[in-house]
Amino acid sequence: MRKFLILGLVAGLGFASAEACKDAPENYRKWNHVKSMVIFDQKHPLFNPFSGIHHVYVNDKGLEAIKVDGQRKFPDGAKITIVFYEHVLDNGAYVEGTKRIEAFMVKDSKKYKETDGWGYFADDGKGNNIVKDMFKDCHTCHAQVKDKDFVFSTWTK
Ligand code: HEC
Repeated sequence: MRKFLILGLVAGLGFASAEACKDAPENYRKWNHVKSMVIFDQKHPLFNPFSGIHHVYVNDKGLEAIKVDGQRKFPDGAKITIVFYEHVLDNGAYVEGTKRIEAFMVKDSKKYKETDGWGYFADDGKGNNIVKDMFKDCHTCHAQVKDKDFVFSTWTK
């Protein structure tokens, strides 16, 4: 994720205004844990830029929808967070290292019409939103799962 975003910055995308970041959620660790994943091998298609440990959380408004296997629709007010950590090898275990990035999706069908109702944000760890163009930076890739309302993650039973 970091590499992807840094590339975006180098390409001249720059920082979005603080205004755009105000929908980014806080306290997501009090939400519902959806799933976790460790991407540790270069042979995985997501290794670059998504290597490391990540966790996905959904707020109560999005909980019912994310549990639906297959076609689904999230209501306005649904929020999802994905948080990335370095994976550090520690005596036979992978443990969480430095936090790299927090990325958010916020559903508001009126406000974020151009991106099918989803607002996208990413925090560089210093409180800066590093998404300049939600459509190009985020939504085009998430469009792969249009039938799942642009959300890849499914509930780990
Ligand atoms: C190259 C494709 C790609 C791009 C670009 C991308 N994502 Fe994702 N994103 C994914 C994949 C794949 C997952 C699912 C990871 C998993 O299975 O745990 C995901 C998961 C997420 C999730 C958790 C909900 C879900 O869909 O599973 C959020 C929130 C998220 N991304 C936000 C963003 C934001 C914000 C941006 C723009 C900065 C972005 N993403 C750009 C591919 C992408």
